[in-house]
Amino acid sequence: MQLMVAGRFAFLIFSSASAAFAEETAATKPQPLTLVKAARLVDTAAGVVRDNQAVLIEDEKVKAIGPAADISKGIPPETRVIDLGDATIVPGLIDCHTHITSQPKNYYEDIFRRSPIDYAVTAHVYARRTLEAGFTTVRDVGAGEFIDIALRNAVNAGTVPGPRILCAGLALGSTGGHADLNGFSPYLSFREVSPSVADGVDAIRKAVRTNIKYGADWIKILASAGVLSEEESVGAPQYTPEEMKAAVDEAALWGRKVAAHAHGAEAIKMAIRAGVASIEHGSLIDDEGIRLMKERGTWLVADIYNDDYIIAEYSRLGYPEKIIEKERLVGRLQRENFRKAAKAGVKIAYGTDAGVYPHGWNGKQLGKMVEWGLTPMQAIQAATVSAADLIGWKAKVGQLTTGYFADLVAVSGDLVADVTVLEKPEFVMKGGAIYKNALTADAVVKPE
Ligand code: ARG
Repeated sequence: MQLMVAGRFAFLIFSSASAAFAEETAATKPQPLTLVKAARLVDTAAGVVRDNQAVLIEDEKVKAIGPAADISKGIPPETRVIDLGDATIVPGLIDCHTHITSQPKNYYEDIFRRSPIDYAVTAHVYARRTLEAGFTTVRDVGAGEFIDIALRNAVNAGTVPGPRILCAGLALGSTGGHADLNGFSPYLSFREVSPSVADGVDAIRKAVRTNIKYGADWIKILASAGVLSEEESVGAPQYTPEEMKAAVDEAALWGRKVAAHAHGAEAIKMAIRAGVASIEHGSLIDDEGIRLMKERGTWLVADIYNDDYIIAEYSRLGYPEKIIEKERLVGRLQRENFRKAAKAGVKIAYGTDAGVYPHGWNGKQLGKMVEWGLTPMQAIQAATVSAADLIGWKAKVGQLTTGYFADLVAVSGDLVADVTVLEKPEFVMKGGAIYKNALTADAVVKPE
């Protein structure tokens, strides 16, 4: 990359499939000092919007933040200044429930005509879309054959543009459960190098160890039946309390936490009692479950946008009617129960299940959360400080504070009046490098 390159051009480089790797590296390389200023900045830790703020960035971290007039004082003359004008800056968003390696195209074709290698070669496309949607960190909760781990490593190495990824590797479930392939002839079997199915305490402990051996940051268990799989029920427990506890205890030995997929009230309570860190979906949670979550400080990660997409699109994608029927059973109740849990004071972290619906649409759930009981600021906090707390990165991401990663998103609309403006951020920076900039022409990436 020569001399100066407009920020907008830096974005084009990432959008272009033919971008040379050498260019990508030069464009993403953080510069020594950058000052980003804007008319407003959301202080997610305090829950307030501050006027005329600036963030001073050194390499990939925030060096200082505060009123633009103060921060601009005494900065070296060669500092790159990016004035975002009337825009509002938000810390990079965090999605605690993605499946970033895949996206359904057709039910039977996905099963019979796609292999893990097909998923592996396309995963980077979804990683870039997620990043460009302003999600600079995700917790990915399950992928086949450790594709998520390979993707995370490629992003960390700077080979592929994408969000910071914490991954779970194989999501663990029981025979006949949500992790298994159901509804087919018993004579049909798939060759899996790394099976997700683990039954019984010993097999579960071993599966947790295997995941960690190959690089998992988190452990995901399927505590209950699911929607998008062919077992009959939705929400019935699919692991015993002993099995769930084994997963949590084994994960803890290795310094890992457990996220539990759980739609049904009983499975939710079993998983909370077993000590999981978060309940995923939480669709049919009852009052006792809400009380237990508050008591134990368990997080709720409820994918409440999903229902709209599944009902609108999944018949077209060839999903069997019995699956659509299951969605009809949980869709509305999940939203009502989300409102109830939030009102009761259950800790809420943002998680969308992106991958069930298109990657890059991760921000659409913010508006749903406001529709179902959160204030816009609470929705933004769920996707920043709260999500950071759940994933164990509250001292790294989720707010813009000295020493934190310079992960910034900016939008030109008034996001506190209408949080949906965050669905399409106009500026995205991760670790001091600009990945998208439709706001200014003067943001420059200086030469080495
Ligand atoms: N992965 C989840 C499952 O199959 C998706 C649930 C989507 N539905 C919903 N209402 N959140 O169970």
